[in-house]
Amino acid sequence: MGLQEEVKKRKTFAIISHPDAGKTTMTEKLLLFGNLIRSAGTVKGKKSGKYATSDWMEIEKQRGISVTSSVMNFDYKGHKVNILDTPGHEDFSEDTYRTLTAVDSVVMIIDATKGIEAQTIKLFKVCKMRGIPIFTFINKLDREGREPLALLDQIEEVLDIETYPMNWPVGMGKRFLGILDRYNDQFVKFNGNEEETYIPMAEIDQDDIANDPTYQDTVEEMELLNEAGDQFSLDRVLAGEQTPVFFGSALAPFGVQTFFDTFIDMAPAPGPRRTEEEVISPDYPDFSGFIFKIQANMNPQHRDRIAFLRVCSGKFERGMNVTLARTGKTIRLGQTQQFVASSRGTVEEAYAGDIIGVYDPGSYRIGDTLIEGKKTFEYDELPQFPPEMFQRVMAKNVMKAKQFRKGIEQLVQEGAIQLFRGYPTDSMIIGAVGHLQYEVFQHRMRNEYNVEIILESIGDRIPRWLKKDQVDPALFDERNLLVKDREDEFLVLFKNDFALRWFIDKHPEVDLIDLYEVNQYDQTT
Ligand code: G4P
Repeated sequence: MGLQEEVKKRKTFAIISHPDAGKTTMTEKLLLFGNLIRSAGTVKGKKSGKYATSDWMEIEKQRGISVTSSVMNFDYKGHKVNILDTPGHEDFSEDTYRTLTAVDSVVMIIDATKGIEAQTIKLFKVCKMRGIPIFTFINKLDREGREPLALLDQIEEVLDIETYPMNWPVGMGKRFLGILDRYNDQFVKFNGNEEETYIPMAEIDQDDIANDPTYQDTVEEMELLNEAGDQFSLDRVLAGEQTPVFFGSALAPFGVQTFFDTFIDMAPAPGPRRTEEEVISPDYPDFSGFIFKIQANMNPQHRDRIAFLRVCSGKFERGMNVTLARTGKTIRLGQTQQFVASSRGTVEEAYAGDIIGVYDPGSYRIGDTLIEGKKTFEYDELPQFPPEMFQRVMAKNVMKAKQFRKGIEQLVQEGAIQLFRGYPTDSMIIGAVGHLQYEVFQHRMRNEYNVEIILESIGDRIPRWLKKDQVDPALFDERNLLVKDREDEFLVLFKNDFALRWFIDKHPEVDLIDLYEVNQYDQTT
C-alpha cells in the first residue's frame, strides 16, 4: 500500500471532557468496537481505586504493557484508529494540553445533567486556538438532564462555536425513547438494557412510536431546527468553526455506534504540518515527526524515559537512523513502542498520524523534530500553555545549589515544569497547570539529582504578559507579582480575577496579553 493510502486510513483523536462526564466509559465502548476488549465494565473501578477484573488485565499480561498508558490503537472498518488519552483527574498537567497538538480531531463529551464544566472549557480553548475539528457527544441521556436546546445554546455561548445537531433526543431520563438521526434519516430506538434498533424514517409510520406524543413533539421541534438552525457544513467542521453534536448514552450504550461511525466518516485524516519555512505533507517521502510528551520512569531503578512521537510524514521503520533537527545528531530508533498494539507492543512501522514511543536516554526535549534524510527542518514549536498554579522553590540544603540548578534547568528544558524568576528579587517560581506536575518534579529532583526541595505555594494565579516598553515595577507587589519567563519576557501573576479587573480599570494604558490569544494558530496552515 502506498503512503497516501496509509495516511488516508488514519484517524488520530483525543477525547476531552470534565472528570466524570463519561470519557472512560466512552473509551471503553470504542475499544469494544475495536475488539481490544471483549466486555464492558472492565476498564477500572475508579472509586474503589482498584483495577477491575478483566480483559484489561488480560491485555496487560498478553502484551506486556500498561494500559494506563496513553495511546490506544485499533483497526475499525478499514481505518486505523489512534485514541490519545488526555489525563483529567489529579493527573491533569501540561501533557494534557500538549497531547492536543498531536491529534487531528477531538471528541468533546458533555454530561447532559451538568452542561459545560470548567475543564472542558480549558481544553476546548486549546483546540479552538489550533483550529482542531471538534465533535460533541452529549452524554447521559438516560438521566434527567438539561433541555437539548439549552445545551446547544450553552455550547454556542460559552465556547463560541456553531453547533449542528446530528441527531435529536426524543425524551430524556425515564421517558427517553431514542434519537431522531437526521444525518442517516432514521429513528434509533432506545430499548433499555436491550440493544438499540434502527427504523428508517420512511417506515416510521408502521411503528407505535409514531403515535407517542413525546415523539410527535420532537418531530415538530426538529422541523423548527431544520428551518431555523445552522446549515451543516463539513468545511466549517474541519475548520473548527462548527461542531456536529450527537446525543446518547455511553453507559447504556446508546447512540454510540451511530456516533462513532459518523465520526470516523467525517474526522480528518492526518493533514500537513507547519515548519518554520514550509508545510510538510503527510505523504512527504522522508519520515519526520515531533515529540509532544516525555514520560519519566518513576521507578528509581529505571532512569529511562519514553518520548512520545507523533509521526507527521513518510514511513517509520524500526531501527532506522534519524536526525535530531535541533542538534544535528544522528540517532538510531531501535527501541520503540506502540502502546496497545496488535503485536507485543513493538512497533515495526508507522505512518503519519501514528504515535510511537521512543526510548529517551535524556537527549530529547518537548517539541523536538526527528527526521530521516538529508534535508532537515523543525516543526513549529509547541505553544507554551499558561500555568495556573505557582510555587516558590528552594533547595533545602544550600550546599546543593549546583545540582539544584542543574536539575531545574533540565526539567524545564524537558518541559516537565515552567520556570519564572521574581523581579527584581530573582527568586525561582515554578508554574504548572496541575498538582501532579509538582509531585513529579519533587520526586525527580530527589531521585535523579539528589536534591531535596522546599516548595512554597503562592496559590492559583492568572498570568498576563506585558509589552516590553510598558513594564513599570512600581505598579506591582506581592498580590500582583511581576516575574520574568525563560525568554526574559515580563508577566504579572494576578492574585485573582478581581485583582485583574481592578488593574485593568486602574491602568487602561497597560496592555495585558493572554497567552491563549497570542497562541491563535491554525495547525494546517
Ligand atoms: P470520566 O472518565 O469522564 O471521569 O467518567 P467515567 O466514564 O468514569 O464516568 C463517570 C460516571 O458516570 C461513572 O459512574 C459512569 O458509570 C457514569 N456514566 C458514564 N456514562 C453514563 C451514561 O451514559 N449514563 C449514566 N447514567 N451514567 C454514565 P460512577 O458511579 O462514578 O462510577 P462507576 O462506579 O460506575 O465506575
